[in-house]
Amino acid sequence: MSRDVSACNSYNYGDAMYWDTRYVQEAESGSFDWYQRYSSLRPFIRKYISPNSRVLMVGCGNAVISEDMVKDSYEDIMNIDISSVAIELMRKKNEGIPQLKYMKMDVRDMSFFPDDSFDSVIDKGTLDSLMCGTDAPISASQMLGEVSRLLKPGGVYMLITYGDPTVRMLHINRPVYNWKIELYIIPRPGFERPDGSTASKSIFEPVPITEKGLLPPDYVYEDPDSHFVYVCKKIDEISDDGAFKEENEIIII
Ligand SMILES: C[S@@+](CC[C@H](N)C(=O)[O-])C[C@H]1O[C@@H](n2cnc3c(N)ncnc32)[C@H](O)[C@@H]1O
Repeated sequence: MSRDVSACNSYNYGDAMYWDTRYVQEAESGSFDWYQRYSSLRPFIRKYISPNSRVLMVGCGNAVISEDMVKDSYEDIMNIDISSVAIELMRKKNEGIPQLKYMKMDVRDMSFFPDDSFDSVIDKGTLDSLMCGTDAPISASQMLGEVSRLLKPGGVYMLITYGDPTVRMLHINRPVYNWKIELYIIPRPGFERPDGSTASKSIFEPVPITEKGLLPPDYVYEDPDSHFVYVCKKIDEISDDGAFKEENEIIII
């Protein structure tokens, strides 16, 4: 569950062939969710993504998160992946679930969908995979440009990643996307504090970030292998002054 794409050098995570081969090998064993399961992400997903909204799951793989979301009353989830093997497996597995749709697609070119097609985009480990490929910065900017184009004004791109702000903000915090970003930091599954103490801060509160989108210099990780949830809200120029609504107020220090 907490397999880490940071092992870029050992595996070719940026290569579609790698994923096809892997999903063929894993076909027997069924599904696998990278980093975190829906139960851990649910508070963030329910906070920012309404069950009746149109959701795009990019790089769905064979994860069960979309199925879990449908069990939790989400109505419309389009799942895409560059691996035709993963898409065929998942389409077959979930053919009786009309809320789930599957298409083979490269996140760098989602021209099949018109602008403003989705209320939200969920990415668990897919930008991370692209960051392992050749021409990673170009791939990241193609993908994020497409995500921004597909989001309705006011929509949310939720990125779940192992990448801390020093390696992710330079890609996502670009004026061209017009996103306001909130950051949450959550421990990896199974993390236990060495001394059995309780958490010193709530993981459900956004972490303060500097104007450059970085953590405060004195920030201390409870779990050094934490995962990061970036909530990127596409500013709605008409009804939104760019800030999150009062309860989600952005924290800039
Ligand atoms: C680390 S896995 C994460 C899978 C799933 N989201 C999860 O949480 O378990 C990355 C996924 O991204 C897919 N992927 C990699 N490059 C892609 C691309 N250019 N377009 C679409 N999907 C891609 C891979 O096939 C793989 O399924």
